[in-house]
Amino acid sequence: MRTIAIAAVTLDGKIALDPDHFPDWTSAEDKVFMRALLDTADVVVVGHNTFKTAKEPLSKRNCIVLTGSVASTERKGDKLLYVNPGTTDLKAILEPYATVAILGGAKTYSYFLQHNLLHELYLTIEPVVFGRGISLFEHLEGSPTHFKLLSMRKLNEDGTVLLHYSLAAAK
Ligand SMILES: NC(=O)c1ccc[n+]([C@@H]2O[C@H](COP(=O)([O-])OP(=O)(O)OC[C@H]3O[C@@H](n4cnc5c(N)ncnc54)[C@H](OP(=O)(O)O)[C@@H]3O)[C@@H](O)[C@H]2O)c1
Repeated sequence: MRTIAIAAVTLDGKIALDPDHFPDWTSAEDKVFMRALLDTADVVVVGHNTFKTAKEPLSKRNCIVLTGSVASTERKGDKLLYVNPGTTDLKAILEPYATVAILGGAKTYSYFLQHNLLHELYLTIEPVVFGRGISLFEHLEGSPTHFKLLSMRKLNEDGTVLLHYSLAAAK
């Protein structure tokens, strides 16, 4: 099982203005990249808030939604499973999948990193500033986590940049 987080951030490290913010501020080039990467994933994991903001595009994909609103797991459709990671072994649920895409938001990215379940990160930096909002890993606790840059690419003339990281080996 290989887990890959995919996120777009502003220059000030925000992924959204608030939990209901529809992700319409990212570039067309990032959306193309994100869709292509999601096509390679066997399952997509999102938090309940992100799921609510992107229900329609996610409906075509095999999707796991993290939520405290179910006791353990609850199947909501052929391709849709709600999972409560507080009461369920999420790693065991993900284990059968070769490639797991983690699509956020902050609570979900933080959960995966906090529990050593995050292997790679594709980070798109969009040349825009919010000045406020939700930070990428804002729920993460404990000591700093180090990443290693694998590649970088400029996606358009405005200067949208795509960075690919893996977790750095422990020092
Ligand atoms: N820029 C980007 O790349 C990007 C990517 C993804 C999302 N977003 C944006 O980020 C915003 C949402 O972010 P968010 O921080 O609110 O996070 P989120 O992770 O999408 O949703 C948080 C909710 O998911 C459930 N959840 C997540 N982790 C859980 C856990 N470990 N245990 C139990 N439940 C868990 C809870 O749902 P319940 O309340 O049901 O218990 C929690 O309230 C939206 O505006 C979205 O558009 C941006």
